[in-house]
Amino acid sequence: MKNLPIKIVSTGRYAPDNVMTNDDFSKILDTNDEWITTRTGIKRRHIAQGETAIDMAYKAALKAVENKNYDKEKIDLIIVASITSPVKTPSIANLIQAKLGLNHKNIVAFDINAACSGFVYAVEIAASMISSGNYKSALVIGSEHMSSIIDWEDRSTAILFGDAAGAAIIEVSDNPKDNAYFWNGSRGDDTGILWIDPKVKMAGREVYKFAVDIMPKAIHKVLEKAGLTIDDIDYIIPHQANYRIIQSVAKDMNLPIERFLMNLEEYGNTSAASIPFLLDEHKTNNPEVKRVLFVGFGGGFTWGAAILNV
Ligand code: UT7
Repeated sequence: MKNLPIKIVSTGRYAPDNVMTNDDFSKILDTNDEWITTRTGIKRRHIAQGETAIDMAYKAALKAVENKNYDKEKIDLIIVASITSPVKTPSIANLIQAKLGLNHKNIVAFDINAACSGFVYAVEIAASMISSGNYKSALVIGSEHMSSIIDWEDRSTAILFGDAAGAAIIEVSDNPKDNAYFWNGSRGDDTGILWIDPKVKMAGREVYKFAVDIMPKAIHKVLEKAGLTIDDIDYIIPHQANYRIIQSVAKDMNLPIERFLMNLEEYGNTSAASIPFLLDEHKTNNPEVKRVLFVGFGGGFTWGAAILNV
């Protein structure tokens, strides 16, 4: 496949202020901080009150525009990865176009669903579209209102998720060093291991097994495609589902856990928002970070791995 020279030129994130702790869960479900912490690494998650995936997507997008004082008039492509839009149409992307005041422009705007891998899929789509020369600036967002689809009576899933959004602005680059590489994929599962219809239902152990198998594979594959080794990567940004999953991947790859960025202790699993949110969080504190590797997995099953410069 053709190389895709692109660059993330700005990022933004948003999470609601309202926090729910493990102790808060122990008041409504038969669970406790000790179980949740040791099995998942999650301590807190941010839960929206009165805000939707559309509102959170807009706030993250606005941050991405404001962070670099980005000329929003340049944006001609908007892709939102989400499984929690409150409406089937218009897409969240259409609504972001309107909210950003870009309705006078001929923008292509649409949403995609690849569950927790959605952001990585959306970046590959954006990269392909801008590399074609037909688009110049893509706003790519992952936004999830997971608390709206949680079964609040199911202790095995309710404690895992949080609400958030992350955004990235991507431009084409003429520097061959900015080539981006992807290894995204899927394996259709019709056995109900991970379903949302209308609430989350999951066979956690099965998902866990899938995750610890696919994540190292995806990392190796995308490195191979790029002709790079793990030492060429500044940071690995994994989907934030479970500390033990990330620990297992690190062990499998013989890497120190510090190579994997994490914030799941504070935000839980925010599905398609987890990777762009963490990217922005890390970029804010470490502006010098250059080459990152995204790796995620999710319902479908889907997985996504990408190497790109930020
Ligand atoms: O973005 C993708 C989304 N999904 C994931 O990434 C999920 C991947 N899977 C996991 O992270 C883990 O499988 C979980 C954290 C969901 C569960 O951990 P586990 O070690 O696989 O536990 P388990 O489901 O096998 O349950 C062990 C025990 C069960 O009790 P018994 O049958 O042994 O008596 C559960 O009923 O723990 C019980 N349990 C709980 N206990 C206290 C399940 N949830 C809870 C809870 N608090 N919240």
